[in-house]
Amino acid sequence: MNQYKNFFPIMRRYKDLAYLDNAATTQKPDMVIDAVDNYYKQENANPLRGLYALSQKATEAYENAREKIANFIGAAKHQEIIYTRNASESLNLVAYSLSDLLLKENDEVLISIMEHHSNMIPWQQAVKRHHAKLVYLYPDKNGLITTDELKNKLSPKTKILSLTQLSNVLGAKQNLKELIKIAHANKTVVSIDGAQAIPHSKIDVQALDCDFYSFSGHKIYAPMGIGVLYGKEKYLNEMPPFLTGGEMIDYVDEQTATFAELPYKFEAGTQNVGGAVGLSAAIDFMNSIGYDTIIKRETELGRFAGEELSKLPYVTIYGDKDFSHHHGVIAFNIEGIHPHDVASLMDSGDVAIRGGHHCAQPLMRYLKCNFCCRASMAFYNDEEDIIKLVNRTKYIRSYFNGAK
Ligand code: ALA
Repeated sequence: MNQYKNFFPIMRRYKDLAYLDNAATTQKPDMVIDAVDNYYKQENANPLRGLYALSQKATEAYENAREKIANFIGAAKHQEIIYTRNASESLNLVAYSLSDLLLKENDEVLISIMEHHSNMIPWQQAVKRHHAKLVYLYPDKNGLITTDELKNKLSPKTKILSLTQLSNVLGAKQNLKELIKIAHANKTVVSIDGAQAIPHSKIDVQALDCDFYSFSGHKIYAPMGIGVLYGKEKYLNEMPPFLTGGEMIDYVDEQTATFAELPYKFEAGTQNVGGAVGLSAAIDFMNSIGYDTIIKRETELGRFAGEELSKLPYVTIYGDKDFSHHHGVIAFNIEGIHPHDVASLMDSGDVAIRGGHHCAQPLMRYLKCNFCCRASMAFYNDEEDIIKLVNRTKYIRSYFNGAK
């Protein structure tokens, strides 16, 4: 077993498994599991409310994690970091509250055809509520939104651009800096879905100058159920709350309420402190591996997988033909075989991949495939995993051909 897999109890338990569904969720290292375990054994109480020592410990753990997340993504202030359950909830928060702040009848929201449903349905709902319009950007053959495409679709009516930084199907990473600059020149507010990008690239929200950035903990080695929304203070202060209830208020009357300061205005109810502690440990874990190593290994594995699979004439791979640009995400089909059959037969050969529409049905139709298989890598994967994937692909093809 390679030295990286050894950090993960699941990898030690399932030694033969080629786990290639990291875009869906990553495995959790001992460091993260131990941190969560320790929190519940040593520090658990309801944070922010209790005036006793244990509650203060929980508050400290919760706020230290927020500080670490702010540093990790280069936010100017920890008040700009809002805890959510996952990237979907972060994106829903932006779509709901920002649209209430900005959208008027006939205004436009711009998204791309590559969006995950989580960055599409919330905007469909938002434009419906405000009688506005959803407009789409389409990528070039490499999965990139060109500056011309953006300029053509922007208009004085475009109030919001919400864009994935990295497609969960094509693995294509957008040149965000220049796209954001163009959008801002049009006075368009920019929200980024970073769920698939942050596992594979160091994020600096101030350098990007995005107005919002959403991601999930579970795709970067943290537990499920903890997510983050970064937002510029000037917008978060103006936006109405999304979820309401405990802890997000300042003063409550029978008919009205005033709201808490940032970030608490957006954190109603008892929060997932154990998740925040786990995310903090996951950031330490990623820093201990280093983005240089992570990116190098994932780029190399993506290239190797793409090149090996593309040698098989019955395999179609979607997106950029230079597979080192896929950030370890390879979407493919085996001619004549449904991806659900492929995924099941991969599983019986100890290869875990995803098959289906990948929560991106409009993109699937745009690619004219409806469904596909996806192998997605993390730095702990190795060449052996990819060789298993390729051998299993050959086996599945011969199995179906034999059955005909
Ligand atoms: N959003 C995750 C994926 O693309 C679940 O697989």
